[in-house]
Amino acid sequence: MCGIVGYVGRGNAIKPVLAGLNNLEYRGYDSAGVAFCSDTVFHSVKQVGRVSALESELAGLAITKPNLAIGHTRWATHGSPTKLNAHPHYNGSRTIFVVHNGIIENHEEIRSMLESANYHFVSKTDTEVIPHLIDYFYQKFGNMDKAFETAVKELKGAYAIVMSTKHEPTKIYAARLSSPLVIGLGKDSNMVGSDASAVADSSEQIIYLDDYELAIVERKTYKIKNFKDKKAVDRQPEEIVLEDVAASKGDYEHFMLKEIFEAPKTIQNSILGRINLDTNTVKLGGLESVENNLRNIDRIIILACGTSYYAGLVGEYLLEEIAQIPVEVQLASEFKYRKEPLGKNTAILAISQSGETADTIAALKKVEDLGLLRIGIVNAPGSTIARMTDAGVYCHAGPEISVASTKAFIAQVSVLNLIALWLGQGKSSLYKELLTNLAVLPKTAEKVLALAPTIQQIAEKYAHHSDFMFLGRQYEFPMALEGALKLKEISYIHAEGYAAGEMKHGPLALIDENFPTFALCASKNLYEKTASNLQEVKARSGKIITVTTKETTKAVKNLSNENIVIPEVPDQHLPILEAIVVQLFAYYTALARGTDIDKPRNLAKSVTVE
Ligand code: F6R
Repeated sequence: MCGIVGYVGRGNAIKPVLAGLNNLEYRGYDSAGVAFCSDTVFHSVKQVGRVSALESELAGLAITKPNLAIGHTRWATHGSPTKLNAHPHYNGSRTIFVVHNGIIENHEEIRSMLESANYHFVSKTDTEVIPHLIDYFYQKFGNMDKAFETAVKELKGAYAIVMSTKHEPTKIYAARLSSPLVIGLGKDSNMVGSDASAVADSSEQIIYLDDYELAIVERKTYKIKNFKDKKAVDRQPEEIVLEDVAASKGDYEHFMLKEIFEAPKTIQNSILGRINLDTNTVKLGGLESVENNLRNIDRIIILACGTSYYAGLVGEYLLEEIAQIPVEVQLASEFKYRKEPLGKNTAILAISQSGETADTIAALKKVEDLGLLRIGIVNAPGSTIARMTDAGVYCHAGPEISVASTKAFIAQVSVLNLIALWLGQGKSSLYKELLTNLAVLPKTAEKVLALAPTIQQIAEKYAHHSDFMFLGRQYEFPMALEGALKLKEISYIHAEGYAAGEMKHGPLALIDENFPTFALCASKNLYEKTASNLQEVKARSGKIITVTTKETTKAVKNLSNENIVIPEVPDQHLPILEAIVVQLFAYYTALARGTDIDKPRNLAKSVTVE
């Protein structure tokens, strides 16, 4: 999952390309590189690490008037994150430069064919076959447009490719299959990039390329062609709708902390204009066009990955309890391989912050021809998942910059509450109570944020541990999973999330004085059950941190080494408040351990490869 960008115009092409790469760092930050055409000579500069490292290197070079440049920020798939493996990749004579996002599945086959035709490779990447293959066809046809198209057709897998070449120094070539790519149209320049943020610096309008499309982009013109059916594509440009991608950290040390502290605003934005307490109704404009279909469905399959999947697990409990619809949550990466029968009255609900997660996109594609209703809960407006679903509800959480998802989860669970209420009107005795409580939840979230100093003290005390167990039941079970995931991804501590009732079926064997347990016991209905699981932990000398409400504290106080008391809310809303607690706990633990919180090792914000 990498970010790609290209610019052709009159000004210094490196500037908009670097601006685009900085906006694309959420896709990967192992290495970065550019190729540019300066006075008809092509150069390539690459650097390991962040885009800022590349910027520093470029600042030290005397570069004259590059009016065409392409760039890349990498998340390593094939080959380690070294300068050699960084993009752009080029052919032996350095006349063809390629940046690529995705995976070329038949790269070994192409590599052996090219090696037998005397092509030599220097890197271990799948990408390197592309410039060599284009060169191979260029030698054959002597025509770059034809060579590019023919090479692209040979590639199997998923790709967004951008190429610049000495043979056509005023053109940028681009092609996509299962990996997003856009053209940005400016006044006296054009751009290509992975998304709107990549081209926003110098573009006013945008064209989203579809699968099997290639484009040839010049300063004043562009052509799009479908390389499968060989037809020219005429697509209307759209205005660029972009949220404030350059959001600043303000007074916060990290984006993650800032985003956690945005929880009250996030809940507020997700319910804004959607609940009416005077009429006791929920209005979801994004679902109105499919309302009749939705009211007839008898099963919902929620598809998502990572934190969004855990939001989906909360959604499962909510939709079943409030809307009385059977729900199944599946990891998008696994759904693809299942051969389950899917009835016509099944609706698919995809949840994604970025709207660009490759596994979720592939899962949605799997049901494309089955005629099932596909709805989305997406944060990023205009993203691939937002565009490929029949209807949906936006999260309105605003751009999430920190790699670890925080406020997006809170928005997703708020939206799932709204959908459950909207579908469940008249079905659930809880309807009025939940609607009323949702309206005041932003204020309640502020009270949880006020616990930050307490949570920080506890986190610092336990930050030296190498293992952690997270436990919860029912609505608090997904929070145990999410708590463990947050801790692993930013503090690099091994953590397990379990349904509390499962402890005695195996995981209890792990517990000793060095394996602390973080237990979510705020559920009015289930805290006593969880308390008995904690007795078992205590009996094995395990240290225990509990999250309770005033009412539930009594059952676990004596068992707890540490206790965090949150406000009382209906169980259905606990995940929203407990998300803040586990996010803060992970954040302060990582802070104490000195890790790179906003950009944890080996990860990227948007996972655009399967
Ligand atoms: C964890 C995290 C990831 C994402 C997952 C899905 O903090 O951020 O697990 O939740 O990659 O991403 P989206 O929601 O963009 O589809």
